[in-house]
Amino acid sequence: MDAPPDFFDDPVAATYDDDTTDEFSAATIAAAVDALAALAGTGSALELAIGTGRIAVPLAERGVPVVGIDLSSAMVARLRAKRDDIPVTIGDIATTRVTGSFSLVYLVFNTIMNLTTQAAQVACFATAAAHLEPGGTLVIECMVPELRSLPPGATVVPFHVSDERYGFDEYDVAQQGLVSHHLALVDGAWTRASIPFRYVWPAELDLMAEMAGMRLRDRWSGWDRSPFTSESTSHVSVWERYAGPA
Ligand SMILES: C[S@@+](CC[C@H](N)C(=O)[O-])C[C@H]1O[C@@H](n2cnc3c(N)ncnc32)[C@H](O)[C@@H]1O
Repeated sequence: MDAPPDFFDDPVAATYDDDTTDEFSAATIAAAVDALAALAGTGSALELAIGTGRIAVPLAERGVPVVGIDLSSAMVARLRAKRDDIPVTIGDIATTRVTGSFSLVYLVFNTIMNLTTQAAQVACFATAAAHLEPGGTLVIECMVPELRSLPPGATVVPFHVSDERYGFDEYDVAQQGLVSHHLALVDGAWTRASIPFRYVWPAELDLMAEMAGMRLRDRWSGWDRSPFTSESTSHVSVWERYAGPA
């Protein structure tokens, strides 16, 4: 598997935690940490794509030992500036193995979609399972693909419009791909970043979990653990490892 590109370089990492969207609110982070700490129990946690530690730092502060994997040295440098006692391995979450066995592996904020092939997403589930104790859980937080918002022939769904920021997702339905376009006014100049993703349905993730020896235990529509319904726009899914990885 080729090394994936790193879209989270120094300029992105420098402002990552300044985001004011809901994912960065104290309430959302507290709800995520509550749910993850309950699942970790007295064990340890591995965060796939740990980034700047948006979730890992408060989870560690809750007393859960956390380690991480991430591709981006720039993002991890930001984490280290907050706390230098969270071990992080620089590598690809599809294939990287770390030492240890965990009661919880988690991958949040749509990041399973950063793996842009089905093979890489399947490999990521195998990687998660390889790190889990029997009975341990994998948690993934991900959006539900917004195909219901696309009229026939259309390809673009806006997800943010404000004076200083525009964001829209461009879907390629035939390839199950999307590109997220971000335009932002920074110091008086417009910047653009376009990041490729592979969107994925909950049912396909269940199949990947099954292939790796895990079965669905819970699916919520968010960190408040409210029920997942036909109208849910995102899901937090919890799979339990019941067998050795395939
Ligand atoms: C949206 S950020 C999420 C960071 C953190 N988990 C959070 O919730 O704030 C996505 C992260 O995934 C990392 N990433 C993307 N693709 C990756 C890959 N194939 N292997 C490892 N890390 C990856 C990026 O470097 C970045 O830190």
